[in-house]
Amino acid sequence: TSPEKVLLHFINRNGEKFSVTAKEGQSLLEVVVNQNLSIDGFGACEGTLACSTCHLIFEEEAFRKLGAVSDEELDMLDLAFGLTDTSRLGCQVHVKKWMDGLTLHVPREVSDIRKELEVEKQS
Ligand code: FES
Repeated sequence: TSPEKVLLHFINRNGEKFSVTAKEGQSLLEVVVNQNLSIDGFGACEGTLACSTCHLIFEEEAFRKLGAVSDEELDMLDLAFGLTDTSRLGCQVHVKKWMDGLTLHVPREVSDIRKELEVEKQS
């Protein structure tokens, strides 16, 4: 059987809305990249849990359904700007059938941890 198609909505920083059809099993980072969504700076570390730029905010109910967050993801989330109680890293969340119609918010601020470390090194 072919993977289920799941409709997802992304609300970008400026309020712009992207509605895309994702495939079950893809990570949300893959969805953004494959669909060429213009979310500035998203997924800078390509899903290697090193940047937190793939930070997405979920609706509360959906967040609860996602289940446990790994320690590695939590560590990286801690460094994300604008962290909320329903924040996750998009590269660590995979599309599920129940997500059909889900809206994901891109946080207003983004930080690429690697860039900040660079700056610290230089000063
Ligand atoms: Fe860098 Fe997810 S893409 S942590």
